[in-house]
Amino acid sequence: MHDQKENGTCQEVQANITQFMQEIFHTYKKQKDNLIPILEEVQEKFGYIPKEAQKEISEFLEIPMAEIYGVITFYSRFTLEPKGKYAISVCLGTACFVKGSRKIMDRLTQRLNIEPGQTTEDGLFSIDETRCVGACGLAPVFTVNGEVHGKATVKMLDTVLDEILEKEKTVEK
Ligand code: FES
Repeated sequence: MHDQKENGTCQEVQANITQFMQEIFHTYKKQKDNLIPILEEVQEKFGYIPKEAQKEISEFLEIPMAEIYGVITFYSRFTLEPKGKYAISVCLGTACFVKGSRKIMDRLTQRLNIEPGQTTEDGLFSIDETRCVGACGLAPVFTVNGEVHGKATVKMLDTVLDEILEKEKTVEK
């Protein structure tokens, strides 16, 4: 076990983040415009934007933490938590919404007991909402790790979740 810091990030991971941030800062000027490209690099490297990285960016670019948080939560490509092994997105774009995708999202949050943008404690599932994945003809749509499930129903979602849980049970054995 690694030593846990109060914010839940182990020291080894934190050292990794610090090292990566120092490398990035060498390649960027201290300009506010560089916030998005830096966040993109961090998201790509870690799969989310850790709090420690936000702090270092805040100091480097002299941007308040609240502003950085606002940018991360505004763009759906940035996340505050690592995605789950199964990243499920429900499309709430117009075509999907009018065909009832909200019901699918509601069922998903109810079954997994997390909200969009969150990951289950076991790291198995994360939920996101998206705006049009370009499959409007199949509305309503949800995706699992990018794989599109079209003409979706609550029942179909239940089946997909049950299959994943069954598969994971077998993996555990
Ligand atoms: S609105 Fe959902 S795929 Fe286009």
